[in-house]
Amino acid sequence: MFIRLDKYLADMKFGTRSSVKELIKGKQISVNDVIITKPETKINTDKDIISVSGNVIGYSRYEYYMLNKPSGVVSATTDSHDKTVVELIADSSRKDLFPVGRLDKDTEGLLLITNDGELSHQLLSPKKHVDKTYIADVAGVISQHHINMFKEGLKVDKEFTAKPARLNILNYDKLNDTTKVEITIYEGKFHQIKRMFEAIGSRVLYLKRISMGSLILDKSLNPGEYRKLSSEEINSLKKEQTNRNED
Ligand code: URA
Repeated sequence: MFIRLDKYLADMKFGTRSSVKELIKGKQISVNDVIITKPETKINTDKDIISVSGNVIGYSRYEYYMLNKPSGVVSATTDSHDKTVVELIADSSRKDLFPVGRLDKDTEGLLLITNDGELSHQLLSPKKHVDKTYIADVAGVISQHHINMFKEGLKVDKEFTAKPARLNILNYDKLNDTTKVEITIYEGKFHQIKRMFEAIGSRVLYLKRISMGSLILDKSLNPGEYRKLSSEEINSLKKEQTNRNED
């Protein structure tokens, strides 16, 4: 990919577009061992070797992180009150990362953070029906009757009937009168899971996403921790989207 030198440096968080121009004019930047003083110089991100004050820097067009989102953090890029999921990705060199979809502030678990708009679009497209699996603690007893209701497509309210969803009962906690369930949905409406359980007279007390398509939350990640996706994980997410039929 060809890109202007000042944009490249700004993308890599070496400063704003205007402050990196100063770096360039100050003869701090070399491309293939030649000092470059024109910010508009086009560089080839696949081949050229860029140094800032003598240190070689790398450029990756896209970055992909798996975050175990903790409760209390919002799924946004900026927020005036709360910490955002993007702020948790401390060692990224990119400033254009965003979360793929949203988890509620109090929801934990798998969130993909990337700057790959095309993959994000594919994963979020309502036409692709990407499956999302959650573990939830919900109030009361959940029965086979509820499993059937979810399977048939639950009428949540006047406006919204959920697509068929898969519900498994994991265990019942008699002491607290709560049920641990696993639920898979194939769409992503606002507060969908909470609304589905409310529709059957229950309530979500704890919610954690454990997978999205082929991507499975790494069990070694504690809430707030993240890691880069492996190339296998990236490839299978991309391949899955290409193969998935649109309806
Ligand atoms: N459904 C919800 O209700 N909340 C989430 O965060 C995700 C799915």
